[in-house]
Amino acid sequence: MKSLTNKRVLLGVSAGIAAYKAPDLVRKLGELGAQVQVILSKNADQFVAPLALQAVSGHAVHDHAMTAESESGMGHIDLARWADVVLIAPGTANLIARLCQGNADELLTTVCVATEAPIAIAPAMNQQMWQNAATIQNMQTLASRNVHILGPDAGEQACGEVGPGRMLQPTDIAQRVAELFQNSELTGKRVMITAGPTWEALDPVRGITNHSSGMMGYALAQAAIEAGAAVTLVSGPTHIAKPERAKVVDTVSALDMHAAVMAEIDEQDLFIGVAAVADYRPADAAEQKIKKNADEMTITMVKNPDILAEVAGRDNAPFCVGFAAETNDVAAYARGKLERKKLDLIAANHVGGSDTGFGVPDNAITLISKNSIIELPKQSKTALARELISEIAKAYNKI
Ligand code: PMT
Repeated sequence: MKSLTNKRVLLGVSAGIAAYKAPDLVRKLGELGAQVQVILSKNADQFVAPLALQAVSGHAVHDHAMTAESESGMGHIDLARWADVVLIAPGTANLIARLCQGNADELLTTVCVATEAPIAIAPAMNQQMWQNAATIQNMQTLASRNVHILGPDAGEQACGEVGPGRMLQPTDIAQRVAELFQNSELTGKRVMITAGPTWEALDPVRGITNHSSGMMGYALAQAAIEAGAAVTLVSGPTHIAKPERAKVVDTVSALDMHAAVMAEIDEQDLFIGVAAVADYRPADAAEQKIKKNADEMTITMVKNPDILAEVAGRDNAPFCVGFAAETNDVAAYARGKLERKKLDLIAANHVGGSDTGFGVPDNAITLISKNSIIELPKQSKTALARELISEIAKAYNKI
């Protein structure tokens, strides 16, 4: 996998002569696996054609202006949230000064104020402007705010002078952006996650299921994506939004889920079983709606395959993490499942109460391995998923 796979780069192009290199930079970022969208700062379109940037990025280019029309599409807040990193290249002295002041006077500067994503700047300007006291102070201010400064290079400049201030080459900028994500704990790893309930049909309109909403598994999928993994999410029936950057395989019954997992399990490095899979299914699902003719009805159930145990029992099994939903003696039962199913880790989940577990936004986990127990206290499933993925990655990277 490439080093910017799954990453979204929002490229801000400001109005300097080095802007003509922006299409090449978009291509270089794309070659490393990034998705790129471009915002042009005011007058940048004098140096680079928006149509060229649209062609190489595959997205409409965002103009500097914040109009009612542009805000009704992907507005400044959506762009600020979309980005995994905001990269400004070239960064002119003027734009750098405005960023220092926290100006929000056009789309690019507004996104920089609004984003939680890291910001990187590849400065490009005349050598005298680069060495001007105000620019030096501005760069120090940005660095103190954890803005990543990429370059500049020194050498012959477009104005004919020689000195520091040339923008780094697109290949180097793309590489430096990729390095910002090098701490991603699961970069290059393939992770399969099961999530949600299963539906075991009794007839065409009725079935047996449970209260799993899919929230925990979907949050783990999102956290794994953020950690750089390529995620396959095998989902039972849920009503929540699918993580955009996962490959999602929709299933209904335990047998469907089993088939979907087995079809792609050979390609996985890690497997995380979060789904609440029905242990049994009706032996025969009626083809027509069952009629209310008798006073009693007996349903014969047969055992479903244990997906997690089968995955963990394979030759060359991926690193396997199970979940254990228990109402009592949580840690003891979970440890039993860890051993019986030959898992690397198990997330023991207390599901007796009403504020954690099935169908609610919060959860609390005790993460158990052969030699360790880690308590992850009650918090949102989103926050918990990030902690869990970090712990899982640490354990995986140790083996
Ligand atoms: O979806 P949410 O509303 O967010 O709720 C999250 C959750 C409570 C469902 C989740 O955190 C959780 O605890 N999932 C596991 C539920 C469960 O069925 O546990 P279990 O103890 O029955 O199964 C143990 C493990 O074996 C699980 O990893 C399960 O996915 C797996 N399993 C079980 C049976 C089966 N036939 N195949 C399996 O793979």
